[in-house]
Amino acid sequence: MQTTLIILKPDAVQRGLMGSIIERFERKGLRIIGAKLIKVSPELAGKHYAEHKGKPFYEGLVKFVTSSPVLVLAIRGLEAVAVCRKLIGATNGRNAEPGTIRGDFGLSGGFNLVHGSDSPASAERELALWFTADELHEDAHTIEQWVYDPGDLK
Ligand code: RTP
Ligand code: MG
Repeated sequence: MQTTLIILKPDAVQRGLMGSIIERFERKGLRIIGAKLIKVSPELAGKHYAEHKGKPFYEGLVKFVTSSPVLVLAIRGLEAVAVCRKLIGATNGRNAEPGTIRGDFGLSGGFNLVHGSDSPASAERELALWFTADELHEDAHTIEQWVYDPGDLK
């Protein structure tokens, strides 16, 4: 089991797409074990996007993500990091496949609706930035036995 960090960015919140996007993750069988709507500080945005510091799009990215509240989610499931990246789709909405979140809802490279951790190591680092341990509710659901077969869970 993995937990991954998903952020519904300001464009998703402002466009009223939170419900439609959350539905994509829930109907897949993934579990939301943490959630909060917050206005991001430049300090937190800088830590979150530290790997992009110095790149041409960095300043615009931090400005965007701090411009209006975001919905931060911790999402859990088997191989949740890779599964969520697939559900989200390619970075630029114009290239993203139909059926993915970015492919179905967006047309932009920067305003691309959703962030998803790109590896288990990134997920661990990012979850620690955005959530405290008591904000994550790992054992609150009991649907695993109907989502995975016993072989999946071995
Ligand atoms: P994210 O981190 O938000 O899930 O997106 P990603 O992995 O698909 O893309 P990443 O390479 O990590 O880039 C982070 C965010 O920076 C903006 N970006 N703009 N203009 C550009 O070339 C460019 N490249 C990246 C996007 O908003 C991207 O989501
Ligand atoms: Mg990324």
